[in-house]
Amino acid sequence: MPKALITGITGQDGSYLADFLLQKDYEVIGMVRRSSTGNFTRFKHIQDRIQIIQGDLIDPVSLIHVLEEHRPDEIYNLAAQSFVPTSFSQPLLTGEVTALGVTRMLEAIRIVDKTIRFYQASSSEMFGKVREVPQSESTPFYPRSPYGVAKLYGHWITVNYRESYDMFAVSGILFNHESPRRGLEFLPRKVSRGVARIAAGLASELRLGNLEARRDWGYAPDYVEGMWMMLQQDKPHDYVLATGETHSVGEFVRIAFKHVNLDWEKYVVIDPRYYRPAEVDLLVGNPTKARTELGWEPSVTFAELVQLMVEADLALLETTEPSSSTPNINW
Ligand code: NAP
Ligand code: GDD
Repeated sequence: MPKALITGITGQDGSYLADFLLQKDYEVIGMVRRSSTGNFTRFKHIQDRIQIIQGDLIDPVSLIHVLEEHRPDEIYNLAAQSFVPTSFSQPLLTGEVTALGVTRMLEAIRIVDKTIRFYQASSSEMFGKVREVPQSESTPFYPRSPYGVAKLYGHWITVNYRESYDMFAVSGILFNHESPRRGLEFLPRKVSRGVARIAAGLASELRLGNLEARRDWGYAPDYVEGMWMMLQQDKPHDYVLATGETHSVGEFVRIAFKHVNLDWEKYVVIDPRYYRPAEVDLLVGNPTKARTELGWEPSVTFAELVQLMVEADLALLETTEPSSSTPNINW
């Protein structure tokens, strides 16, 4: 039975990857950082089938102990401070976790067992002010946020350890991928949840920032399968995962409101608080390498994605107390 260690298992992708690896008969170990609340809701349905251990990307000793004790065959490094606006307000923390955290894990692998296969969760945010359309593995980078800069460091240190120490280390450059398990602060979930609350009479407006930005949005479960595929190859290579389509924030909003028969213009309020100091205006990926070498294909269209997220939030509202919703944080 192969053994996989997932960092970031409490996050969106970590929980879907755990689902996927269990189906493949892996032994799954999830690394979580210590917190006073312990937020394990995303993998509650499989909690009896995975082993949860403590570790923190900020603490290199914790990583060495984890690897020595559990000896995984594969590591999926999904942990990060992953929200772009927070990277502007907490740039140093973002650098510590999202950039240097990658080196800490790579060093732990080098010290404990160089044959462990390593996946690094890189991001299309690294393309930033894009130099080429669409973006592929060979497109030059131009990050536009402390998060993008930190991810770029994580990408290059992964390449560097592969080339310097002959390690099986790969960087997956993933474009935006969403699901009903997405964090509430990210645009697609903020919209799907906001629309569901308005449709249910629990809210009267949705405050958003830049509706013109364009993203290449896919469905998260498809993307975690691509991560696994990258680690099953004979040789380590970096891959872009994307749909190859780009849509604006405004299009996402319009389809979401239309799905519940509401006119978005009556509810959406543009709030400058949600504009970013520097924006990534246009992302659209070229997934040809992943398609031809891995056989990877996205399975959900853009309209299907928007609709399934709204449906999931409508269903969630029916099963949860309105008073148990999260506090009003200005994300
Ligand atoms: P997410 O939901 O924000 O999850 C991030 C995870 O990292 C959480 O489990 C979080 O734990 C953990 N974490 C944060 N700081 C940590 C630390 N110091 N030590 C250990 N764990 C820590 O992110 P996601 O959407 O699943 O994305 C997974 C990865 O892919 C991230 O690296 C992200 O940057 C990258 N990525 C995501 C996308 C996308 O569209 N989703 C696209 C490209 C790349 P807590 O629960 O304790 O906070
Ligand atoms: N979050 C948010 N909230 N975004 C908004 C809002 C709002 O109220 N209004 C407009 N937007 C715009 C943002 O300015 C951005 O252009 C776009 O919606 C998408 O924002 P997010 O969903 O927060 O995602 P992101 O593209 O910044 O980053 C995500 O994708 C990256 C891959 O490209 C994150 O998952 C990153 O971790 C990931 O690497």
